[in-house]
Amino acid sequence: MCYHSSSAPAFDVNTATPARVYDFYLGGKDNFAADREAGEKVFDVFPDAPRLARANRSFSLRAVQQCVNTGVDQVVDLGTGIPTSPNVAEVARAANPDVRVIGVDNDPVVLSHQRAEASLGGYAIVQGDVRRPWAILADPVFNHVIDLSRPVLVLCTAVLHFIPDAEGPERIIRAFTDAMAARSFLALSAVTSSDTDPAVIAGIQDAYRNATAPAIFRPAEHITSWFHGLELLRPGVADVSQWPGRIGFPTTVRILGGVARKPSAYQP
Ligand SMILES: C[S@@+](CC[C@H](N)C(=O)[O-])C[C@H]1O[C@@H](n2cnc3c(N)ncnc32)[C@H](O)[C@@H]1O
Repeated sequence: MCYHSSSAPAFDVNTATPARVYDFYLGGKDNFAADREAGEKVFDVFPDAPRLARANRSFSLRAVQQCVNTGVDQVVDLGTGIPTSPNVAEVARAANPDVRVIGVDNDPVVLSHQRAEASLGGYAIVQGDVRRPWAILADPVFNHVIDLSRPVLVLCTAVLHFIPDAEGPERIIRAFTDAMAARSFLALSAVTSSDTDPAVIAGIQDAYRNATAPAIFRPAEHITSWFHGLELLRPGVADVSQWPGRIGFPTTVRILGGVARKPSAYQP
């Protein structure tokens, strides 16, 4: 099944984007000189960035597998990124061939690649900006694929650290958790400032200074607060390489991830 939404905006090869820099970390080919320059600057202070990016991807896929295995058959992948293999749809379908998956992103390169993949069938992609959650929730394609009256997994990994406080990451999460049915899941990950050398944080923030979005590091308690009103699955919010209870590896920069379920007695 393949659905297409509105056209992508023009893109600028001279300005690094989070999606293309991430693609560079993961060894992909869908990045330009400006993205590689930003990525190299990150490597100067954090050479382990590719390993952390792979650990984050792996966390996303484990969260999808776990939630689909519990019976959830709809997945919303916010900030889906440039396709990797395996992707969210492939992992979800391996757990349930009838699962419905929709990816959302605002990066034209992501949209172009994901539309090509989606045309092969199995999932849908819509252009959307998570800073405008109500527009995503009202999108006709979104509503054709996803039935919010039934449980859904909302996946939002490595996205909210590109959203400054002034643009309301809490408001974004809240819009989706309020809209989703009881027994739905939220899985998210974000880079943390906790236990991290401020000089390394400053170096990474500098690398993203001229990108389309800044890199925002938040304390672990702040990231945990995004799960307010939901029931965190064990082990709670943890380093992505360690979730769920795996023996991970330490890195000087940390991405924290968690998965939580919306209870029937949800109180926002
Ligand atoms: C670091 S990549 C993460 C990709 C994937 N979620 C993962 O965890 O592997 C961040 C993604 O979020 C997307 N993104 C960033 N800001 C966004 C926004 N305001 N609206 C929609 N997508 C956004 C980027 O385009 C990019 O594809």
